[in-house]
Amino acid sequence: MSKIAIFASGSGSNFQALIDAAADKQLKTEIVLLVCDKPEAKAVERAEQSGIPTFVFSPKNYETKEAFEEEIVQNLREKEVDFVILAGYMRLIGSTLLKAYEGKIVNIHPSLLPAFPGKDAVGQALAAGVKVSGVTIHYVDEGMDTGPIIAQEAVTVTEEDTHESLQAKIQAVEHRLYPKTINKILTTKCYS
Ligand code: GRF
Repeated sequence: MSKIAIFASGSGSNFQALIDAAADKQLKTEIVLLVCDKPEAKAVERAEQSGIPTFVFSPKNYETKEAFEEEIVQNLREKEVDFVILAGYMRLIGSTLLKAYEGKIVNIHPSLLPAFPGKDAVGQALAAGVKVSGVTIHYVDEGMDTGPIIAQEAVTVTEEDTHESLQAKIQAVEHRLYPKTINKILTTKCYS
């Protein structure tokens, strides 16, 4: 079976959805590592509760991005990771990781890209007054939310929506779409 690593920086609700889908055998891959750049993140707690090994680091303890990415790559290699799944990892991926896992890094973003890249996509959508936003899953390149799109799903924005309610609707879609799409990628790329 293929092996994936999840990268997260925060709450990790998408990470949890992937853990649950793997436990249910809906996600046909093994989650062998959580990589987290915030030692206090809830995602770390979730990994510990599920017995998933972690590589947790503080970027401030490294002189360069290259230095911590080299350590990440070493950890990925040790665990024989085939694919890297970003789930709320709040950092641009640098050339060290991109080269080591070329075409094998995937991200989820809470808008219909190319609309609203970067931080607070939900707030950006509300401020723009759009009637439809959604979720995008895409391959990662050196840009900010710019890589080739793999899957998208729309979410209707109503007059009544607040930041909280729109975020909840978008996350409900994310939690369903991410496991399904990862399965598809792994099957297509013969990593299943
Ligand atoms: C998600 O909305 C995802 O689209 C974005 O960051 C958020 C992470 O949320 N990249 P969580 O930590 O998975 O709850």
